[in-house]
Amino acid sequence: MKKKVTVVGAGNVGSSLAQMIAQDGSADVVLCDITEGIPQGKALDLSEACPLWGSSSSVIGANDYAPTADSDIIVVTAGLARKPGMSRDDLLQANAKVVSDVVTKTSKLSPKSIIITVTNPMDIMAQLSLKSSGFDSCRVVGMGGILDSARFRTFVAWELGVSPQDVEALVLGGHGDLMVPMPRFTTVKGVSLPLLLSAERIDALVRRTRSGGAEVVSLLKTGSAYYAPAAATYQMVRSIIYDEKRILPCAAYLNGEYGTRGVYTGVPVLLGGSGIEKIIELSLNEQEEKDFANSVEAVRSLVEQLKLS
Ligand code: 2OP
Repeated sequence: MKKKVTVVGAGNVGSSLAQMIAQDGSADVVLCDITEGIPQGKALDLSEACPLWGSSSSVIGANDYAPTADSDIIVVTAGLARKPGMSRDDLLQANAKVVSDVVTKTSKLSPKSIIITVTNPMDIMAQLSLKSSGFDSCRVVGMGGILDSARFRTFVAWELGVSPQDVEALVLGGHGDLMVPMPRFTTVKGVSLPLLLSAERIDALVRRTRSGGAEVVSLLKTGSAYYAPAAATYQMVRSIIYDEKRILPCAAYLNGEYGTRGVYTGVPVLLGGSGIEKIIELSLNEQEEKDFANSVEAVRSLVEQLKLS
């Protein structure tokens, strides 16, 4: 039987993700949104594209959660997106209400599902999803690090004039302004970045990665990025559906790993059919540890504002 993926939020990220899943036929999709007609219209349009894609996915649009029952994965993209000049953290209070309602309702209908949280500020929304669902933390995971790493890969590839496919990159920490791109763990066909570029050039690419989301927001003016966020989420969905056991930077609940306890933040995880099957601990140098700790503290202060700890 096909897996079932619920995508809550039929905005740009949610509908792009629904398209990616429907296009490769890897799962049936339920697209939910509170706006009447939008999820139904997009689901109908996607359904009519399936014969052209050679896909037999079923795509359903809904304004209520009944059709989501027994989903294998719930992806939460619902909530407000940033406007120019806003940080992800400015969305805290408004999106917390949306995410807690969505997760409380959908997790009851799909008690065995794995929740992927995309809504910003993502790490805090993942922690809220953990609390609202009551799930084990291995079944609640946030999308941020894959997107940030993809941005870093892109900028490194442009700088060196190579294919982004040949660049592996890693960004740790919260999916916010203090995220931690890791040049030492970034490689071009196995060669570490500091051997290929000067410290000044690497710093410039790190800065551009940190403000990668804001750069898109400032160009679009009416919303935030969606193709790359959807593609990053799709990579997580696939790793779970096909039990690929990819090692991907995702927001995970840390319980002592990296010297951190009781908070979600971006670290490499092994993502498979059961969700987060392992948290991979890297050995960080002094500066990396300091940057990581700063990023975690920024997440923790927002977690405390929502009284989630
Ligand atoms: C981004 O970084 C939306 O948080 C997302 O573009």
